[in-house]
Formats: sequence, structure tokens, C-alpha cells
Amino acid sequence: MRRKLAAGNWKMNGLAGDLAQLDTIAAGHDGAAAEVLICPPATLLAPAAARCADTAVAVGGQDCHAEAAGAHTGDVSARMLADAGATAVILGHSERREDHGETDDLVRAKAGAAHAAGLMTIVCVGESLEQRDAANTLDIIAGQLAGSVPDGATGENTVIAYEPIWAIGTGRTPTNDQIGEVHDFMRSRLVARFGEGVGRSVRLLYGGSVKPGNAAEIFAVSNVDGALVGGASLRADDFSPIVAALSDSAQSI
Ligand code: PGA
Repeated sequence: MRRKLAAGNWKMNGLAGDLAQLDTIAAGHDGAAAEVLICPPATLLAPAAARCADTAVAVGGQDCHAEAAGAHTGDVSARMLADAGATAVILGHSERREDHGETDDLVRAKAGAAHAAGLMTIVCVGESLEQRDAANTLDIIAGQLAGSVPDGATGENTVIAYEPIWAIGTGRTPTNDQIGEVHDFMRSRLVARFGEGVGRSVRLLYGGSVKPGNAAEIFAVSNVDGALVGGASLRADDFSPIVAALSDSAQSI
């Protein structure tokens, strides 16, 4: 059975004073029914990891370079993330794809580097509103999955996050049927490529305007193994109820 995962993506938010949120999140989470991962900005990774060391909260990065080291001013490698205490990294987020022109090939190379450094990768895929309106969603997802996920993917080292671009930070979410259609499709593509064992063990997260008020119904959708949460991960008051809803959904299986 796939273990549930609630991942928080702080994006370019958070100063040292915000680390106290982690204490509250950790205090309300024993790790029994779900995994919790918080991805703060790189500047807070080491103190966040130290703060969460004796808790059931893990810490991850939001991006990494495809190479282990070298002349790449301003970049951070997967080995550096691991060295700072990260156990995972988000890759190919639509904000990286849009703001930094990241291609599927680059995301795949980064994922390979992250796996080599022992990190679990959360590879993000998702369609724009134009692509959905043109009925291209499943083609886009198929292409991103094929291009961004490396051949060495396993259930342990790879998580996929379906994040429709039009749902990120907008307060709009797809219907449960739309989420289920994409998640079932992703599952079938992973099984076709990696076989039953690996294909069924890779966890599939939904991301895009997940809030305490809609989390439980999203977690009831087939093949939704958790969430990648942006805005609602910044405050424990928002994130902890989402973690609780995920833990409840695990117990009700
Ligand atoms: P949001 O962001 O929850 O603020 O919509 C999700 C994400 O981009 O990972």
C-alpha cells in the first residue's frame, strides 16, 4: 500500500522567524498514518532540518542543479541539499518551467542527479488553462511524464505531483472527476512504462489550491496519495488540518 504524503512548498516565502511553524506542525503529527515533508527556501533548509530532526516531519528542497558541483553561480546541487539535511526535492514545478524555461529533459536530468544524491524527487506535471480548454490535458501529462521522469524511477525515489497550472494559487480547483481522470491516467502510464510493481508504488499527489476546506474530498479521489500544498503550507493553522484530513483518509482505507 502506498503511504500518504503531505508536502508543503513554501516557494520564495519564509524567514528565520517562520521556522516556529514547523514546531507546531510537528507537534500535531506523529507520522503514524502519513508522511509530512516541508520544502522551505534553500536559505532555511539546514535550520529547518535541525529543528525537525527528532520529529516525524521531513525537509526538502524546491529545485536542484543537474550537476553535482561546478561553476554555476547561484545554483544549488542535489548533494548540497542532502548535505543540508534534505531528504527530498521538488522538481519541474510549473513556476520553474515558466520562470526559468525548464524543459522535460532538464527536469529528468535533475531527477537523475537527485536520485544519485539519495533524494526522493517530487516531479511536477500539469496543464495550462488553454491546454485544458483545447482538450489536450492528457496528452500534455503523458508527454511530461515520459520526458521528466527518469528510467531509474522507483516507488521509493519518485513521487509525481499533478498540478494544473490554472489551479495554483488561484483558489480554483478541478472537479473531483477531473482530478480522478488525470490520476488514473498517470497510474496507467506509469504501469505501462515501469510495470505493475513500480508503476503502482509511485505516489501521486494533487496540488493546486488545496486548503483545509477541500482537502478531505480531494483525498477521497482514486489514485490521490496526498497533496503538494503551496499557500496553505505556510501556516500550521492551515497545514495541520490538511495533514489530519490525509491521516484520516489513510485510516479509512
Ligand atoms: P497553492 O500552490 O497550494 O498555493 O495553489 C501549490 C503549488 O504550487 O505547489
